[in-house]
Amino acid sequence: MSLTEKILSLKKEKKALILAHNYQRAEIQDVADYVGDSIELSRKAAQEKDAEMIVFAAVDFMAESAAILNPAKKVLLPCLGARCPMAQMVTADEIKRAKSKYPNAPVVMYVNTLASSKALCDVCCTSANVVEVIESLDAETILFGPDRNLAQYAAEKTGKTLIPVPEFGFCPTHLLFQPEDATVLKMQHPDATIMVHPECSGEMRKVADYVGSTSKMCRFAKESNAKTFIVGTEEGILHRLRKENPDKNFLLAYPDAVCPNMKLTTLDRLYIALKEEKNVVKVPENVAEKARASLERMFEV
Ligand code: 13P
Ligand code: SF4
Repeated sequence: MSLTEKILSLKKEKKALILAHNYQRAEIQDVADYVGDSIELSRKAAQEKDAEMIVFAAVDFMAESAAILNPAKKVLLPCLGARCPMAQMVTADEIKRAKSKYPNAPVVMYVNTLASSKALCDVCCTSANVVEVIESLDAETILFGPDRNLAQYAAEKTGKTLIPVPEFGFCPTHLLFQPEDATVLKMQHPDATIMVHPECSGEMRKVADYVGSTSKMCRFAKESNAKTFIVGTEEGILHRLRKENPDKNFLLAYPDAVCPNMKLTTLDRLYIALKEEKNVVKVPENVAEKARASLERMFEV
């Protein structure tokens, strides 16, 4: 029996639900019950009733959100080392300092944060709903962290002032994309459409035809008449894009744009985590309660 077959049979036996982020390895996406962006996966995890456990093939903060939103379920992270570096870039102390400097400004935290940061904010957002969340707030000046690029994108879209907390939070993978690379590809494929994630730099967003979350990009590619796409996000998304659009051509705007943490989930690790029911993600209830409120406010928007 192959490892994939073993996982599928164990998953059935244990009544497990496997959720995988769009950046996961192809073979992980193929064993998952559902592949999506961070908000879609959080929603699935929050609404899950039947499964005995959720295996979250992604990075730390996503599995943490699942555990916060569905505390009765056992949530497993196949590799505990899969930690998003951006989520570690904002600390509770920094948020508290920013709050004391701008006491009237609401605090919005990207879901790419640890539970302790979510617990200190007024509302969370993802790249899919950042504009709606910022617009929903009755304030012109907002504290926003940790992604400075996402803050800039939301400020451009809403006309509001977003103060970045910390000053230079970023995603190391999306930082690799440079407009020059996308422009060279565009010269080679003049009919191509450029789509990028809002974690990319402002310069990169300027050369893009479309900016959106990972699943929004998947929807855009499906609905677009374009045949070739230059993609400005982590390479794992190409598997889903190609699977859903076999007649279209997808080129990565920077060939080595890999999130090493997303790639730590392998079939072996997933199999062992499921078999031994290990790497259970736990968030202390006093933190979880406050973080849940920030996530739920996001869902209300
Ligand atoms: P999405 O919510 O767009 O899937 O993004 C998550 C992420 O980590 C992007 O780097
Ligand atoms: Fe974090 Fe960037 Fe990896 Fe997304 S791609 S999980 S933001 S390091």
